Amino acid sequence: MHSRRALLYMPGDNWKMITKSVTLGVDTICMDMEDGTAINKKAEARVTIAKALRELDFGASEKLARINSVGSGWEKDDIEAILPYHLDGIVIPKVESFEQVEWAGRIIEAAELKNGWPINSIRILIGVETARGILNLKEIAVHPRLDAIICGGEDFAASIGATRTKSAIELLYARQAILVACAANDLQAIDIVTIDYKDQKALRIEAEFGAGLGFSGKQVVHPNQAPVVQTAFTPSDEAIAYAKRIISTFETSQKEGKGAYALDGKMIDMPLLKNAQKVLARAKAAGR
Ligand code: COA
Ligand code: MG
Repeated sequence: MHSRRALLYMPGDNWKMITKSVTLGVDTICMDMEDGTAINKKAEARVTIAKALRELDFGASEKLARINSVGSGWEKDDIEAILPYHLDGIVIPKVESFEQVEWAGRIIEAAELKNGWPINSIRILIGVETARGILNLKEIAVHPRLDAIICGGEDFAASIGATRTKSAIELLYARQAILVACAANDLQAIDIVTIDYKDQKALRIEAEFGAGLGFSGKQVVHPNQAPVVQTAFTPSDEAIAYAKRIISTFETSQKEGKGAYALDGKMIDMPLLKNAQKVLARAKAAGR
């Protein structure tokens, strides 16, 4: 699975931002046709994204596009405009049912067959960002073409009538519901946007908190947010060294017939081993 520590959006009709995005070394670029694009620019966004997919070299960055929600009336034109250019994946916002993912899955599979592309080479990421979506996560998250679930903080707050705060405490339940559904189905979980995009300190705190909760990445909306977020979602040298120590000492203690043992005054047993393995997997995915 592609590493998606930072997922950078830009309006799909904004050629300047799209061309800038490919120079940034960001893990994932997502050209948006949904709420980042004005209603009278939807058609222009489709044409501009298709042009970007044809003409630009995205380097190591993953290339995604976000379509409008299934049921908006725009989704079919959106997906048909971009699929011929074999992008890496589609983001579907405001998903509330398995059938909405299946709708896109069928269209994508038909395109893969028609063009002779490997089946499943185009992935689906979904935004779950409404009350109904959170309630239905259990059935949605099992879809076989899914790679990741994205937590839309602002949309979820609007959906339940919450007032957004800097601590984001009002979003904790939705964030953790998504994390649990992702962990149970081996999916990546991608955290909320810090919309106060000029506040680098708030961004770092929120990104580190999200990484600690278990998210694998975070959405960003401005180039300056990408490096902060990519660092926060990359295990530090200390974390990697400690994980390696747990793995090696765990093996020794097992051989000695001990399930639990002490390391630096802390109790270590199986769950800590599993967590250490996750840290190393994450470091590897981030190219460490
Ligand atoms: N992707 C790529 N480039 C971006 C960018 C983005 N998301 N946001 C800004 N830039 C570029 C600008 O074009 C500008 O480029 P330049 O230096 O070559 O002229 C540079 O980065 C600095 O931009 P800045 O002037 O600080 O930002 P702004 O005031 O023009 O725009 C926002 C601020 C928030 C409106 C803009 O960042 C944006 O539209 N973000 C994406 C919003 C979005 O897609 N939302 C939907 C998903 S949640
Ligand atoms: Mg949204």
